[in-house]
Amino acid sequence: MDSNDVIADIKHVLYTKEQIQDRIAELAAQIDEDYADRDILVVGVLKGAVMVMADLARALHSHVTMDWMAVSSYGSGTQSSGVVRILKDLDTDLMGKHVLIVEDIIDSGLTLSWLKANLQSRGPASVEICTLLRKPEAAKVEIDVKYVGMEIPNEFVVGYGLDHAERYRNLDFIGTLAPHVYS
Ligand code: XMP
Ligand code: MG
Repeated sequence: MDSNDVIADIKHVLYTKEQIQDRIAELAAQIDEDYADRDILVVGVLKGAVMVMADLARALHSHVTMDWMAVSSYGSGTQSSGVVRILKDLDTDLMGKHVLIVEDIIDSGLTLSWLKANLQSRGPASVEICTLLRKPEAAKVEIDVKYVGMEIPNEFVVGYGLDHAERYRNLDFIGTLAPHVYS
């Protein structure tokens, strides 16, 4: 099993399992306070947000319903273009609902900016965003993100839902990859 050990691919651990769980508990407490008198529809963006959704939803004391969306952003290469295609839409009618979009990471912010506008056009009572991680690039886009777990440097990270070629999503921590993975 050693030869296939995923840990050997990790260069540096940015956030441990404990640090992530502590921060999610803080975010949940803040969200509970803000939504004290309202039900929340949490919308997870597949696939990256699966882990954050699972842990955040379990840390919330508010009444919550959960739904999922899958989107893909058209772009040249690795750069997100802001042109988004819906691969899987919500099952829920948003009319009058308090929507909380849950994301793993905001990089350029283009995808989320499009998504927020799209959901806002469906008649919800409110739309807010919660992201576990945010990169500095996001500052360039006019997008109001109410809940941010951690601000991270402009480095590619994996784990806790985040992937490289679909691998590493299952790690319970967040880290950077060793150079041999890229070569
Ligand atoms: P935007 O539109 O904000 O898109 O540029 C954010 C999406 O880009 C991906 N992304 C990453 N995925 N590690 C990853 O595994 C990273 O460091 C990273 N930075 C950006 C991710 O799919 C996110 O939803
Ligand atoms: Mg993603």
